[in-house]
Amino acid sequence: MADIIYGTQHQIDVVKRSTTLWTLLRNDPRFSFQGRAVSLADAILGGPDIVIALARLEGYASCHFVPTDKASSYTDVYEAEGLNPVVWNQFWGRETALATSKEFLSDYTHPTGLTLKAVTDNTTDDTIRAICETSVNAGVLPVPGSAMRGKDPKGLMLYIEDQDNRVLAAGGAYMSYHPDSPRFDEAFWGMLATHEAARGQRLACWLGAELIMRMADQYGARGFSSGVKSDNPASQAMCKRLGVNPSNMVYAGATEPLLMGNAPITR
Ligand SMILES: CC(C)(COP(=O)(O)OP(=O)(O)OC[C@H]1O[C@@H](n2cnc3c(N)ncnc32)[C@H](O)[C@@H]1OP(=O)(O)O)[C@@H](O)C(=O)NCCC(=O)NCCS
Repeated sequence: MADIIYGTQHQIDVVKRSTTLWTLLRNDPRFSFQGRAVSLADAILGGPDIVIALARLEGYASCHFVPTDKASSYTDVYEAEGLNPVVWNQFWGRETALATSKEFLSDYTHPTGLTLKAVTDNTTDDTIRAICETSVNAGVLPVPGSAMRGKDPKGLMLYIEDQDNRVLAAGGAYMSYHPDSPRFDEAFWGMLATHEAARGQRLACWLGAELIMRMADQYGARGFSSGVKSDNPASQAMCKRLGVNPSNMVYAGATEPLLMGNAPITR
């Protein structure tokens, strides 16, 4: 059965190519996958040449955990090879994220009539489509429906519904590193999106904190990180509120213009 994949045609093609590539690379500890793109898991595992090869196959790829002062040793090479660099600040939390999220949840009372749910095998395609729509309307590229169901990679997609079953907010987290990777207990976390009319009620914090606690509980996650652009104050504030703080790391990403044009992979 066809997977549910949302985004622009360029984004959908990246997700399809990366899902296929992952079937070949999934046993190699150098690589990371969170349902959207196969990337290099850590700068200690390889250089820009590997990211360039991935980006030429997928349309977009990045290297995670690149020390900020080493970012140009990736992005300069991308540019020299004709790719478009895109740098995300890596917000990152370990014990602080767990402790702060636990505290947030113990203090928080959610608005009446709202329910937080996890996507499971029983979640309908209509609900998955509604989660995708909330995400793309907020500029966030959702993972495919198959990844939302949490089987591969292992992870969770949570969403908040109102009394009329409208999806007001959604977010996910994935154990996106190989068990033999130095980042084995880290989760890629976030992809949070709140419907414009529902913002400012701590719905993203509620989802983000629940994701952190449940990923720790269900999958042993001890680290949580997300890519945040410098021009996204809402996302920065939400991450910090949950103890996922600015680090001295970035995701050094590259898009292949022949496959992506100048389109960004996500917000
Ligand atoms: C980022 C986003 C998910 C936040 O959703 P939300 O449900 O309104 O966020 P919350 O109500 O949980 O607020 C979280 C924190 O961010 C702060 N915040 C929210 N919007 C903000 C803004 N525009 N500027 C500064 N701070 C902001 C809140 O005050 C709160 O911090 P506090 O508790 O210390 O006061 C939402 O703005 C969105 O969907 N943006 C577009 C998609 C996006 O950028 N996603 C993140 C991808 S990295």
